[in-house]
Amino acid sequence: MWDPAKYLDYADLRGRPFYDLIGRIDATEPRRVVDLGCGPGNLTASLVERWPGATLEAIDSSPEMVDAARAAGIDARVADVHEWTPAPDTDVVVTNAVLQWVPDHRALLRRWIGELPPGAWFAMQVPGNMGSPSHVLARSLASRPEWSVLRGVLRGEEAVDDPTGYADLFADAGCAVDVWETTYVQRLSGPDAVLEWIAGTALRPVRAALDDAEWKRFRAELAPMLDDAYPPRPDGTTWFPFRRVFAVARV
Ligand SMILES: C[S@@+](CC[C@H](N)C(=O)[O-])C[C@H]1O[C@@H](n2cnc3c(N)ncnc32)[C@H](O)[C@@H]1O
Repeated sequence: MWDPAKYLDYADLRGRPFYDLIGRIDATEPRRVVDLGCGPGNLTASLVERWPGATLEAIDSSPEMVDAARAAGIDARVADVHEWTPAPDTDVVVTNAVLQWVPDHRALLRRWIGELPPGAWFAMQVPGNMGSPSHVLARSLASRPEWSVLRGVLRGEEAVDDPTGYADLFADAGCAVDVWETTYVQRLSGPDAVLEWIAGTALRPVRAALDDAEWKRFRAELAPMLDDAYPPRPDGTTWFPFRRVFAVARV
C-alpha cells in the first residue's frame, strides 16, 4: 500500500526529475496528455497547467494514490499500466518513477510505441540506483538467513535498464530518442534520513511482508548500515546521491 502523505514528504526533491523530464517534450498543442502512474497528482497538475487545452488522462494502480490525486483536483482513475492502451488522439505520455515497479515494462514500451500515433511523445524516468549503497545494503540485510521471509522481495539491478538500453529499445521501434542520466546530490535532513526516504518507496515490499515488530527490527538493523554508508554531516543533514535515467522518444 502506498502512503501519499509519506511520499509527499520529499515533494520538492521527487518533483525535480519530473520537470527535467517534461522539459524535453516539445509538444505545443497536444490533444490528449496521459500520466501513467500519476501518484498523488501534484505533478500531474503541472501537465494541466502546461497544456490546458488537452484532455488529461491519469491512471494509477493504488486506490490511495488515486484518492489523493482526486482530492488534488485530478480526474484520475484506478488502473494498472498493463491495462492501458493509448486512445488514437494521444499526443503525450509521461510516466515518472513508475516502470521500475513493472518487471515486463520493456514489452509494454514496445507495444505502446506501436500503438501511439505518429508524432506522439513518450517520456519516462526511472531510478537508476538499484546498485547504490542504500539498495545494496537493504538487499544484503534481506538476504540474511534470519530474514528468509524476505527472499526475492527486493528487486535488483535488473529492474531497470541503463540509458543505452532504453535508447536502443526506442530507436529499434523507429523513434527519435533523447536519453540521459543524472545523479541528483540530494540533501536530506533529520535522523535516519536515507532510511526514511527509502521506507516510503524502495522498502515498501519489505514493509508489506513483515508485521509491525519485524518491520521495526528490520529498520533498526538497517539504520546503522545506512549511517555508515551515508554519514550525517555535522549540521545534521545527509547527502543522498540519487541516479535517475530519462528517455524521451518521438514516435
Ligand atoms: C514513486 S510513485 C510516482 C508517482 C508520480 N508519477 C510521481 O512522479 O510523483 C510510483 C507510482 O506508480 C504506481 N504504480 C506502480 N505500479 C503500477 C502499475 N503496474 N500500474 C499503475 N501504477 C503503478 C504506484 O501506485 C505509485 O503511485
